[in-house]
Amino acid sequence: MEIKEIRDRARQLAKGSCRVCPVCDGRVCSGEVPGMGGAGSGVSFRNNVEALAALRFNTRLVHEVRDPNLATEILGLKFAAPIMIGPIGGISFNLNDAMPEKDYQEAVVAGAEEAGLVAGLPDAVPLAVLEAALDIARRHPNRGVPFIKPWEPADFEAKVEMCARAGCRVVGCDLDSIGLITLRKMGHPAYAKNRRDLAGLSDAVHRHGLKFIIKGLMVVEDAVACLEAGVDAIVVSNHGGRVLDSVPGTAEVLPALAAAVRGRMAVMVDGGVRSGVDVLKMLALGADCVMVGRPFSIAAVGGGREGVALYARTYASQLSQAMIMTGCADVREAGLHLLYDY
Ligand SMILES: Cc1cc2nc3c(=O)[nH]c(=O)nc-3n(C[C@H](O)[C@H](O)[C@H](O)COP(=O)(O)O)c2cc1C
Repeated sequence: MEIKEIRDRARQLAKGSCRVCPVCDGRVCSGEVPGMGGAGSGVSFRNNVEALAALRFNTRLVHEVRDPNLATEILGLKFAAPIMIGPIGGISFNLNDAMPEKDYQEAVVAGAEEAGLVAGLPDAVPLAVLEAALDIARRHPNRGVPFIKPWEPADFEAKVEMCARAGCRVVGCDLDSIGLITLRKMGHPAYAKNRRDLAGLSDAVHRHGLKFIIKGLMVVEDAVACLEAGVDAIVVSNHGGRVLDSVPGTAEVLPALAAAVRGRMAVMVDGGVRSGVDVLKMLALGADCVMVGRPFSIAAVGGGREGVALYARTYASQLSQAMIMTGCADVREAGLHLLYDY
């Protein structure tokens, strides 16, 4: 199976919901939520891609790096490369029924497993979505991390308990989904959390013996609030530009958030990462691990498990090559020194 074949097939099956553009930058799909685009003008999605494109590396050639180490461990989960597949749900309404949701999530987690990575899994309003996700997580231990919506405490904890029963060791919450038009359309909006609410969510997760990731942070104060609430990891993210128009690219805000909390909690990031080269840029800016969203949707729809594994291996090999060319021996040693004029 070749990448071109996967992309052609995904374009066909997505029936216009994703055009599988030469560069996935949110231009053609501006405002398409539901769909694969960014909210409103689509500028938040585009800012993610543009912020990464603006970064340049220092090429370094006098060193001994031949076979850089890509492997890492985050919250007890093992990664062959510091790449996590972002949770993507609502395949029926976002991807025009390109494939059944269950098959999509299975392809993503099984493909991640094959390549030694980990994938996020979605939660949604019908309970069946999380039940299907957890069935997959159970069959692929430590390869699927469910991301629960920030529901009210009792509903949130009931879902965390389901995750624990499915054998998950880590659970996430996409706090920024309070801005999702799709939840409002279904009549189940979720609401912002204050510091006490956050501590409550964190305690609920820890009571069940799991580690807790909060996804969707864009400002230092919120990252510090998560740290103080006992959260174990954050994902710097604007939900792929889908929850608020006119926000910066995540690569613009990552250095400040990482400087505030890194070392005391794991720092992940996503938004506009389109290659292993982009992964290294995010690591250089302070991430421990980098999430990738839409490209893996194309991989899953166009190539199933095999397509996901192929994309994952391609990202890892691009990352390795970029590390050789910048003299970076280990993903944990990436830093701002890798970037030109930063
Ligand atoms: C169609 C679609 C559905 C998504 N569903 C979810 C979801 O259910 N839960 C979640 O935490 N993030 C969700 N996201 C956000 C992704 O996990 C991720 O943050 C984003 O796609 C990263 O940006 P990228 O696609 O440019 O890589 C979704 C994104 C898209 C495009």
